[in-house]
Amino acid sequence: MKYFILIIIFYSGVILAQEKKITPEEFKKAELTFERKCTRCHGKEGRAFGKNFAKMEKKELRNLTEDMMYGPARLKPTESEIKAMIEYLISLNSNKD
Ligand code: HEC
Repeated sequence: MKYFILIIIFYSGVILAQEKKITPEEFKKAELTFERKCTRCHGKEGRAFGKNFAKMEKKELRNLTEDMMYGPARLKPTESEIKAMIEYLISLNSNKD
């Protein structure tokens, strides 16, 4: 019984961590990071993104964003910085025609 409760606590923690939404501050920071580190290749509106971008699965987008942040942008992003960047990219993309 004790273990059962521990398992419940553990998994609700895991679920909460995944559901954690980014704050407006984190979003703003992602915007600044994008302008400083990504626009030189992708342009202000992320134009250089491929056509598939909008249809990309979140997981795939996540992997690419993470690679881009570690790779060309030479950042060492935290989990929430990666999440915020993804949200920012999605918002950029939804502004397009
Ligand atoms: C040195 C130039 C460069 C920089 C800086 C750079 N990128 Fe990229 N990025 C690329 C290139 C080139 C591709 C296409 C790669 C491919 O298709 O394999 C790409 C692809 C992507 C894609 C996939 C889009 C698609 O449709 O294929 C995403 C998302 C992305 N970059 C996000 C970012 C973010 C976020 C940053 C800043 C943290 C960033 N990139 C910085 C060059 C760059």
